[in-house]
Amino acid sequence: MSAPPRVPRTRPEPVAPDPAVPEPAVPEPTLSELAVSEPAAAEALDAHEEHAWSRCDPWSAALRSGRGPLYLHREDGTRHPLDIERWCAAPDAADRTVIERCRGSVLDIGCGPGRFLVALAERRLTALGIDANPHAVARAVRAGGGALCRSVFAPLPGTGSWHTALLVDGNIGIGGDPPRLLRRTAELVRPGGTLLVETAAHALDERLSVRVGDGRGVHGTPFPWARLGSTALLRHAEETGAWAKAGEWEAGGRRFVALRRA
Ligand SMILES: C[S@@+](CC[C@H](N)C(=O)[O-])C[C@H]1O[C@@H](n2cnc3c(N)ncnc32)[C@H](O)[C@@H]1O
Repeated sequence: MSAPPRVPRTRPEPVAPDPAVPEPAVPEPTLSELAVSEPAAAEALDAHEEHAWSRCDPWSAALRSGRGPLYLHREDGTRHPLDIERWCAAPDAADRTVIERCRGSVLDIGCGPGRFLVALAERRLTALGIDANPHAVARAVRAGGGALCRSVFAPLPGTGSWHTALLVDGNIGIGGDPPRLLRRTAELVRPGGTLLVETAAHALDERLSVRVGDGRGVHGTPFPWARLGSTALLRHAEETGAWAKAGEWEAGGRRFVALRRA
């Protein structure tokens, strides 16, 4: 068993209470209780098809340098910019509206370079990031976050016990099948727990095949992705029978939805 990731301990900032999200009633697990060995993590990742981002060279290169340009290229030739510089920076004001709503133990799904993990650890919350890309995990751990190289669809520590899970920066698109991802997150989060999801700014419900590219002709392998607006997310969430709407807000031109686990 390898040592658990280091959790920085700094003075926590005060967090305004959010009446929509109750405090957890039970003690949080520590990261060492949640830790699993890295060989086990690597096996779990290899055993799943959702590791396309981990084979994506432009994404890995951008994670190493912390710089773009970087795009999600669609099959129709259009592309969406990926905000790698913002993801590698400290949380901005909109990110902080998500952080303020986190309670208890937090699982950041598709954590990337880990800006949420560091901010959550500073608030003395137990936070674990998972990401399919080893360069993302290495960067998150270097920044002081706790992270595992693991697909969200693989066996995960703390399954069924997380108080809060995050799907930000478009990560509701992971796997290209939002109902499946919503069912999977329902397995991970405890009853009464919260899933905080960033949604598209427009009314969208699309599934697509994409590749990450650097805008100069270098592309990774294609993988399934999805983009959802808030209305579509809430419809899919309700259809799982596991999630109910707990809140909705906008910050810095970005939109977010809070779901409560039944
Ligand atoms: C749109 S990026 C979001 C980046 C991130 N939130 C950040 O702050 O940089 C999607 C992230 O999800 C990760 N990812 C893709 N498929 C995944 C899976 N099945 N399980 C876990 N992470 C995955 C990618 O490696 C990538 O880091």
